[in-house]
Amino acid sequence: MTSRLYLDNAATSFPKPPEVFEAMRRYAEELGASAGRGAYREALASGELVADCRRRLATLINAPATDHVVFTHNCSTALNQAIKGYLRKGDHVVTSRMEHNSVLRPLQALSDEGLLEVTHAPADCETGRVDAADLLAAIRPRTKLIVLAHASNVTGTLQPIEAVGAEAQRRGIPFLVDAAQTAGHVLIDVQAMKIDLLAIPGHKGLLGPLGTGALYIRPGLEGAITPLVQGGTGSVSERPVQPDFMPDKFESGSHNAIGLAGLAAALQWIEDQSIESLAAHDRAVCARFLQKARELPGLVVYGPQHAEERVGVFSVRLSGLEPGELSALLETEFGILTRSGLHCAPMAHETIGTHTDGGTTRISFGAFNTPAHIDFCVEALGKLSDVAVSR
Ligand code: ALA
Repeated sequence: MTSRLYLDNAATSFPKPPEVFEAMRRYAEELGASAGRGAYREALASGELVADCRRRLATLINAPATDHVVFTHNCSTALNQAIKGYLRKGDHVVTSRMEHNSVLRPLQALSDEGLLEVTHAPADCETGRVDAADLLAAIRPRTKLIVLAHASNVTGTLQPIEAVGAEAQRRGIPFLVDAAQTAGHVLIDVQAMKIDLLAIPGHKGLLGPLGTGALYIRPGLEGAITPLVQGGTGSVSERPVQPDFMPDKFESGSHNAIGLAGLAAALQWIEDQSIESLAAHDRAVCARFLQKARELPGLVVYGPQHAEERVGVFSVRLSGLEPGELSALLETEFGILTRSGLHCAPMAHETIGTHTDGGTTRISFGAFNTPAHIDFCVEALGKLSDVAVSR
């Protein structure tokens, strides 16, 4: 066992495939030019790297048009672009109590300005699952957007995306999905799942570097969305107004070319493994952790107890230890890195009853975790449980 076992993949993934850093090194040493900002070889090659990354991401999510994948700095900037760019004064939004602050806060800010009304649909206190019927029952005549996380960053719960997507499409209401905890972990098909807007981090399950992310915008919807940032696009520079074509409408300023070079290599690595095999690995990790954790009497594992209903993001509490104390002991005694607290999702913690007393300790697995890592983690929890009992 290594001296450090990183189990905070819900925050950002570690390790990444070595090809990611090799691609970034090659970009830095051999190109170093801004994508789409010059006609010399290096600038064109940099532009081709960005285009390659866009093609791979569009293929992964089955986007009907490659240029409808817009690069952002992370999932939060993608969600803000979708929410603030699309909604207008007087609109009503339906979302859930399982959302991350990257959804809750922009909606709250617009609501505080008197621009919006927001309904937060409840979730089951055991599983964290939002019932599609509850979400759809909240729809009003003025509802202009439905926002739902594909999986909770607190409980790992997979939400009923297909059911909500189908009904949202039938009613003509755009559906925004936060794929922060699912991109690279489970299959996402924006056409089959009837997703109109998909916010994606590049640095979590997609295994790219921090500072990368994307927003997919369904063809036809882009005209209804205002870009949050205007500026240089390297295109139609003679015009004083922002281009209205994709992806330039939403991509002002220099690209994070070095980051996207890394993300393109990560996406190629995912293609080589296949997303199906990564999803099967994720389910196997969940099944093993759930099965082992059941053997520890003092341990509570929140969220779904069946692997197929979740991703590998586990909120736990160990009786006798505060979540922050448990994270600290996991690190100092076993070199296991986890995240404790409310995980920027206060309503999710209210839902499962962990809002007070320090939230939970979150253990989140990634593509490179092995059965030995899971066993080591559960053994560590068992030893700390004995410590807590003997106090
Ligand atoms: N949203 C990330 C998390 O849940 C940072 O930790």
